[in-house]
This record gives sequence, structure tokens and C-alpha cells, in this order.
Amino acid sequence: MKTRNLYIVTYGCQMNVYDSTCLGTLMKKRGWKLAEKPEGADFIFLNTCSIREKAARRVIGHLNRLKALKQKNPALILGVGGCVAEQEGQKLLKQVPWLNLVVGPGRLGEIPQLLENLTSDMPPIVLSGQAPLMTEPAASEPQDHRALASFKDFEPGPSPISSFLTIMTGCDNYCAYCVVPYLRGRETSRPKEEILAEARSLVNRGSLELTLLGQNVNSYGRPGHRGGQDFVELLTEVANIPHLERLRFTTSHPKDFPPALVDLFGQLPNLCEHLHLPLQAGSDRILAAMGRRYDSAHYLWLVSALRAACPNLALSTDIIVGFPGETEQEFNQTVKMLESIGFDFIFSFKYSDRPMTKANLLPDKIEEKEKQRRLAHLQAVQKAITLEKHQALIGQSLEVLVDGFGRNQGQLSGRSRDLKLVHFDGPESLMGQLVMVKILEAWPVSLIGELNSNQKKALQNLN
Ligand code: SAH
Ligand code: SF4
Ligand code: F3S
Repeated sequence: MKTRNLYIVTYGCQMNVYDSTCLGTLMKKRGWKLAEKPEGADFIFLNTCSIREKAARRVIGHLNRLKALKQKNPALILGVGGCVAEQEGQKLLKQVPWLNLVVGPGRLGEIPQLLENLTSDMPPIVLSGQAPLMTEPAASEPQDHRALASFKDFEPGPSPISSFLTIMTGCDNYCAYCVVPYLRGRETSRPKEEILAEARSLVNRGSLELTLLGQNVNSYGRPGHRGGQDFVELLTEVANIPHLERLRFTTSHPKDFPPALVDLFGQLPNLCEHLHLPLQAGSDRILAAMGRRYDSAHYLWLVSALRAACPNLALSTDIIVGFPGETEQEFNQTVKMLESIGFDFIFSFKYSDRPMTKANLLPDKIEEKEKQRRLAHLQAVQKAITLEKHQALIGQSLEVLVDGFGRNQGQLSGRSRDLKLVHFDGPESLMGQLVMVKILEAWPVSLIGELNSNQKKALQNLN
């Protein structure tokens, strides 16, 4: 039988990246080949995100562009997964009638089996976590994470230098602006042994760096979750895996950050000196309206505790500007927080109305133009802070995990332990290795350096 080709496009968060990787692995096991372009593929799968309206709209645009391929090759199977699939379900078929498959994130593990018999002339199939419309019934219950359970059975073969590992799914926090709890369901922790087995397997097959993933990893193993125990315990056990050079986790909610977790930053040698800790807003009134369940004082206290445990900890955050009712003064409180904390970098967004959320129903929406102005101002403030942080690194040597090429010929790139993007000249043979790089130049998004002299000498001796 002819080998069938699969082309996957991934939007959204790292959990989607993990899911896409797992889907690719499962499909390869069944003899599929991963294609590098959509042309000529037998199955195209878009793994989508619905966090902001713009993200969701992009998916429809992409599906419209794929229509031409479908016309050229009527046997092509076109599938949509991820959060837009869960949110829109059957409705997506009205907008995009040339779709064959709509699969919510909780049902992803069913795709390989489905594809055994599915042809493009069959009626489209819609599978979602809450209300499966056409599938083996009983197979799904809302909190089921069979998709993940079946992924633990990885194929032998090399793993990437740096791998993601989802440790829990769903979110129970219901922040007022956020659609995730409605699309990814309730928090569910994967059993610790399953995570450790997958982590060991990734490390044994070549991953030097692991990032543990969840919408709120700090609540891993909370009582009432199925499976899992305690995040501090899990992190410590993963850190003890021999030959794991670097360990990261994301995302953490500031309301759930126990002192024992803070202390790990000073204790686990391979836990990297970087933490992503979403702040969202600097005003206590807005934080309360967002349902974040911490105030600015708690956040500041946590930052100082973390910096006491690990003085060179790099911090990044997420900020939303223009939450409904946010005044100019409240926005300025966010700016002040950025100035007083000094994040290494931030992700900042204009508030976007999402279906089902509480904020969607709030009055006093901020005009687009004003949100744009606030965002531009915030980003300008942060750009200066980031640049200053980068300049302070000039002359220092950073450990870099080489995982890509820079823009110029002969240039390599990688991340430092504190997640700085570093470019430097070096031979391709360094790909996948940890090297020391001395920083020479600082830019707003990256650093430029040179290989440390003893490393250069070692390379010369090899030649
Ligand atoms: N679970 C993570 C974040 C997940 S979503 C956490 O709570 O930290 C990533 C980021 O998208 C959020 O931190 C938030 O800043 C942003 N975001 C979520 N919903 C949004 C919305 N409706 N409008 C604008 N930004 C949003
Ligand atoms: Fe969304 Fe809040 Fe959950 Fe993060 S913690 S996914 S922002 S509801
Ligand atoms: Fe997007 Fe869903 Fe992740 S909305 S951010 S893909 S959980």
C-alpha cells in the first residue's frame, strides 16, 4: 500500500505543540509519513487555538486557503483539532463545508484509528470532549484524557534536544477573560509514574532539556484530581533523572506558589533560572475583576521570595491591556509594576472578548484604538527594560543549548538557561550541544556572542 502523508500545522500554546508531536508519533507508527508541505499530503490537520479572536479567525483564513488543495485533490482529508474545534464543533462545518474531521483536544488520540477507514467522500465526523456526535459512544467521558494516556507509548528513535511534556490538562481557574476552562475541561493530572517513564524515555533518546507543561502546573496533583500527587515531588523526581541537563515548567499561577516550590530554584541544579509567572495586570481592582485571586502585593512578595532563593532568576510574564473598565490610572499601575519588577521579557495582549466568558458580558469595553495605544506604550517601556537586561550580560559567559541556525551564514543559535536567545559563529557539529558563549552585543530580542576561547581551542584540536 502507498505510504500516506500527513501535514500538521500547530497554532497556540506549547500544549498544542506537545499534542501535535504525539499525534505525529502515533500516525508514524501506523505507517504515515510526516510531510513538510501541504501540497501532496493525504491528510492535513490544523491544531488550533481560540485564546483571542484573532487566533480563531486565522484558522478560518487558513481553511479557506486550503480549499484550493482540496479541489485539486478531492481525496485529501482535512481535519481541524485543538480549541477552535472544541469551541465550534458542528458549526465549523457550516462555515467550512469542505472539512472532513473536527476533533476536540480531549479526543485527539482517536484520530489514528479513525483515519484507517475514513475517506473524503464520507460524511464529516465531529468529536468533542463534551458531546461526541459520531463516535464509539461510551468511549468518552468529559474528564477523559485517553489522548494523553495513549501517547506515553512512544516510538523508539531520537527525541528532540528539547522536549515538551504535558503533565496535566484542563484548567479550573476560570479567569474572567479566558476561554480555556470551557474548551480544555477540568484539571486532570497524569499519574506520576507515567510522566516519569515518558521523561526517562525522552532523556534516554537524547533530550537534554525538558519543559513540563500545564495551564497551571502548580496545581498538579491537587486533591480531587485524578492521578498525580504533588508538583514539588514530581519536579524533584524528574530533576533526578540522570543526564537531564535542563528542566523547566510552565505555566505557574501566582496564587498557587508554595514556599517549597520557591526553594527548589536554589536547590535543583538542573532547574533553569527562568520562570514565566503571568501577572496580567498591575491594578488590584482589575486583578479582582479578572478573578485572579491574588493582588499586586502578593505578586511582589512572591517575586522577592523567588529572587532571594535564586538571585539570577530571569522572569517573564503575560499582560492583558484594556480589560473591560480599565482606566488610564489602572493601566499606569501595570506600567509601574513592569518598571519596578524588571521582567526579562513579556508577552502582552489587547483584551479580546471570548464566547462563554464572564468578561464577555461586562460593560465598559475599551475601544480598539485605545487598547492599541496602551499596548504600544507598554511594549515600548518593556523594550527598554529588556535591552537594559541584555546589555548587563555583555562580557559574561552563558551556557547555550544549540538548537538552530542564526540569520547569517555560519551562525548558530540557542537558548541560555535563563531563556535568552543567543547567536554566535560556530561549526554545525555543535548542533544539539551545550556550549559556553561569551556575550559581545545586546539587542532587544537576542544576544550576539562568540564561543569561549577554550571551546574554540578544543574544536581546533579536533580538526
Ligand atoms: N494558563 C496560563 C495562560 C494561558 S493563556 C496562565 O494562566 O497563566 C496565555 C495568555 O493569554 C494569558 O496569560 C493571558 O495573558 C492571555 N489571554 C487569555 N485570554 C485572553 C483574552 N481573552 N484576551 C487577551 N489575552 C488573553
Ligand atoms: Fe485561562 Fe486563567 Fe486558566 Fe490560565 S489560569 S488557562 S488564564 S483560566
Ligand atoms: Fe490556545 Fe487552547 Fe492553548 S485556546 S492557548 S490552544 S489551551
